Amino acid sequence: MSSPDERARETEQKLTDDERFSLIVSLVGAVPSIGVPRDRRIPEAVKNMSAGYTPGVPRLGIPALQSSDASMGVTNPGYRPDDKGATAFPASIVVGSTFNPQLARYGGAAIGREARMRGFNIMLAGGINLARDVRNGRNFEYYSEDPWVSAVFGAEAVNGIQAEGVISTLKHFTLNCNETNRHWLDAVIDPVAHRESDLLAFQIAIERSQPGSIMSGYNKVNGFYLSGNHHLLNEVLKGAWGYRGYVMSDWGAVPEWDYALNGLDQESGIQMDVKQWGAEAFTDRLRKAYAEGKLPKERLSDMVRRILRSAYAVGIDKWGAAPAVDIGKHNEIALEIARQGIVLLTNDGALPLATDRPLKIGVVGGYAQLGVPSGTGSGAVLPVGGFAATVNIGGAHGVMGNIRNLFLLPSSPLAELKKLLPQAQIEFDGGYTPAESALLAGRSDVVIAFGIRVEGEAFDLPDLSLPWGQDAIIDAVATANPNTIVVLETGNPVSMPWRDKVKAIIQAWYPGQAGGQAIAEVLTGKVNPSGRLPITFPASLVQTPRPELSGIATPWGTPTTIRYDEGAEVGYRWYAHKGVAPLYAFGHGLSYTTFSYGDLNVSGGETVTAMLTVTNTGQHEGADVPQVYLTEAAGYKRMRLLGFDRVVLKPGESKRVTITADPRLLARFDDSAGRWRIAAGTYRIAVGKSAEDLPLNADTRLDTRLFGS
Ligand code: BGC
Repeated sequence: MSSPDERARETEQKLTDDERFSLIVSLVGAVPSIGVPRDRRIPEAVKNMSAGYTPGVPRLGIPALQSSDASMGVTNPGYRPDDKGATAFPASIVVGSTFNPQLARYGGAAIGREARMRGFNIMLAGGINLARDVRNGRNFEYYSEDPWVSAVFGAEAVNGIQAEGVISTLKHFTLNCNETNRHWLDAVIDPVAHRESDLLAFQIAIERSQPGSIMSGYNKVNGFYLSGNHHLLNEVLKGAWGYRGYVMSDWGAVPEWDYALNGLDQESGIQMDVKQWGAEAFTDRLRKAYAEGKLPKERLSDMVRRILRSAYAVGIDKWGAAPAVDIGKHNEIALEIARQGIVLLTNDGALPLATDRPLKIGVVGGYAQLGVPSGTGSGAVLPVGGFAATVNIGGAHGVMGNIRNLFLLPSSPLAELKKLLPQAQIEFDGGYTPAESALLAGRSDVVIAFGIRVEGEAFDLPDLSLPWGQDAIIDAVATANPNTIVVLETGNPVSMPWRDKVKAIIQAWYPGQAGGQAIAEVLTGKVNPSGRLPITFPASLVQTPRPELSGIATPWGTPTTIRYDEGAEVGYRWYAHKGVAPLYAFGHGLSYTTFSYGDLNVSGGETVTAMLTVTNTGQHEGADVPQVYLTEAAGYKRMRLLGFDRVVLKPGESKRVTITADPRLLARFDDSAGRWRIAAGTYRIAVGKSAEDLPLNADTRLDTRLFGS
């Protein structure tokens, strides 16, 4: 049996140039084919509203390439009147909060099956940009601020999808960490720091999952657009890392044909580029360049070979009958992710809710009577049976502004609470005015106030507040009744001006189509919370690397430069570096039981291995997430998460946990050598419950090492 490389080489040789040019572009199903010659449009018969469609070459057994968004389920909301909806999984940040990579894999496999059932052989799933900025509208589509966490979860999602015979895409390569003016955005960073942060996340994720494709971001890095960034695509991704799949552009990210020379293998959504840049279609310009000898034949063949290689490696040419899809089982996976991903931030004894007496409970706001919000943009999934409600918000963010929506998934926390607490007296108030909400609060034993926010593609949030006056509602409710619990359904940290007035706070993020049930289960103690924050919650924007976000005040389309001067010191690393205590630390999350750590044993040499014993010292079964950090490296303060585990323990039970670090997390990238370098010396290792709560530490020695690329 020949390898995918050999097969790709053989097939490519048999193609005509017309077929080659056809394979290196895709069309958007939903957008009229402006500028696309009639003979190259999507045939009506296969127009299944793909985000990308590329005709196949039947005589050589090459299937048509059909792609769909995204990391939280099969989507293309609004574009798919023919589709009755898919499983709307929790946002990726919820998956990251579980610190349970297996759930990313299960979710990925379910998404792969649902894609395949619809004929999609490419999923645009696997967003792993680092959450560098708590205003980034798309952080909910990513896993974490930490490179290791992002890489491990992104890889498992890709592995799950690809195991179902569907190509998956890690995106958006790279440093697409803000949405502000994203098509005109220059992300500036020190190249070495880039290798040690965002690029390291991609590098590790690629090694662990071999994604068939990588999507280049809209933005520039250090002056060069990603889709045509010779250094990052040719030298780093394909050169130093030896990536053998193909690079597709983001939709509307290719203003120039010569990006093909700089590493781009496939232009996505041809019509979007024509619209965005007023340019002639990429293929037409490429054909011209080819005829003029500016595009070498070998490069054209390489673009095609890379696409074919991924098709063969993942097996999209070998599809038999579509797999049976058990949609009920997929709902269970969505539910389990939400259960494990919801984070209990504070608890002054108010939770779990008492179930032994008939409480008078006031539920306030957040459309909790209807459902739970999801993020907006290309990643929003239309659930089976439709949204509970959709409210168009609009916004001055180009095309995406028009489709900025509050989407409510039909899993009502109110209804679920009523199911779990049949003896309670539960009243609902819509959070319409502070005065009215306070009336309900005043006559309740306990109040559960919901805070929601719409976050999504093409816009960043200017501040950390809750919209629609919800902070005033929560404040009024907590003033009327100090026994208030707040449930936040947001994609990012928010400021909590009412924080000291409430008894408990839950971060439920965008918890997906079973989110209402998971929230109710956590509130009532049916589920013991075990989620941990994969992103630091700042006390205010002043603590963050960019108190002011450049470009946020300018109209859509303004060339913008954002400097990521924090370099590799992203998130918790920044707070450690500055010696500043955030509101809630990375890794933080409470449980209804307690855990202790002991018997730390750390060994060094080539890398660090830490062993510790975790004990459940409380009264309930629960899951804990022990975390191992580097805090000092050969005489320098340096904070890096080296690894984590998730252990489920019965009361009184102990488990020994072993965590070995990827040595790149202990090293610096040596740009002149193009390799990773560990300096010999003493390394301080700390173990604990969050980046701020590290009760145990030990020193070990590492040897000098120059390795990798
Ligand atoms: C997004 C991508 C998405 C693509 C196709 C773009 O606007 O940035 O994440 O995969 O659209 O829908």
